[in-house]
Amino acid sequence: MHTLNIIGAGKLGQTLAALWHRRGTFTIGGILNRRRESAARAQAFIGAGTVIDTLAQMPAADLWLLAVPDDQIAATAAALAPVLRGQNTPPLVFHCSGALPASILSPCGTPRVASAHPVHSFADPQRSLRDMPGATVALEGAPGALTTLAPAFQALDCSCLYLDAEQKVLYHTGSVIACNYLTVLLEQSLQVFAAAGIDRQTAAQMLQPIVLQTARNNFALGPEQALTGPLVRGDRATVARQIEALDKTLPDTAAVYRTLGLAALPLAKRAGLSEDARRQIQSILDEPLS
Ligand SMILES: NC(=O)c1ccc[n+]([C@@H]2O[C@H](COP(=O)([O-])OP(=O)(O)OC[C@H]3O[C@@H](n4cnc5c(N)ncnc54)[C@H](OP(=O)(O)O)[C@@H]3O)[C@@H](O)[C@H]2O)c1
Repeated sequence: MHTLNIIGAGKLGQTLAALWHRRGTFTIGGILNRRRESAARAQAFIGAGTVIDTLAQMPAADLWLLAVPDDQIAATAAALAPVLRGQNTPPLVFHCSGALPASILSPCGTPRVASAHPVHSFADPQRSLRDMPGATVALEGAPGALTTLAPAFQALDCSCLYLDAEQKVLYHTGSVIACNYLTVLLEQSLQVFAAAGIDRQTAAQMLQPIVLQTARNNFALGPEQALTGPLVRGDRATVARQIEALDKTLPDTAAVYRTLGLAALPLAKRAGLSEDARRQIQSILDEPLS
């Protein structure tokens, strides 16, 4: 069985290592984090591996996962070069950033580099142990590395999407908008409820079913049919009243409402909004903040 070393056993690193350990895909080797106690916690979560204090002390391995924050991948790859020179066979080195290409790992000196981005939010490793299997993983990099990584992710019931390096930034931006900005929108929504005197807990309880239903409708029916509300109905006076209320209480949220409202208009048009209503709503949304 191949051995996997992990540099950066944070949310993603420890989850993948734990899953591969449980499924018998890889033997877990060295675990190196910035702080020893963090690596020890990761080791306990994974249930395997050895906590290591410095890069130079890492044992040899067939695969190296660099799951440090994106901004540290290049420097970590460069620091790894002298360590890898001591290994007989060039190992496979990969990172899991959605935005960065495999080539950022070139300074480590091995030609077998890849990026493998799971389309999954590793917010809580315990939940991810249950929910990550089955996700899509976007693979990019040296063909000789991908032939090893694809079966490893398939062993977690994942399906693989193959990308070119040039596709990565926009590919990742697509998932940032759908996933991260959904969280931002929910927070904005809770702030608006708070301004209406409805506490966060009550608002969250109220929102959960409608948000989940909206997500399901989008995937089942497509965005045009899933879009409901005053904008697509052409309820100009309601849109104007909502903007006025936000301008008075939460001007930053008013700006978000305007921007997303304008972005929604072409969709609303395709969903049946008349040209006359579209123009009027656009002029309401375009009005400068008073
Ligand atoms: N989280 C997600 O949902 C997600 C999804 C897809 C892809 N990714 C990708 O996965 C990678 C890791 O993200 P993450 O969310 O798991 O990050 P994270 O939870 O912040 O974990 C980063 C880990 O790297 C360690 N670290 C930082 N600098 C280091 C260094 N110089 N040497 C050794 N270890 C170092 C940290 O150690 P300490 O704990 O000691 O600070 C921490 O354990 C990123 O490339 C990210 O783009 C993340």
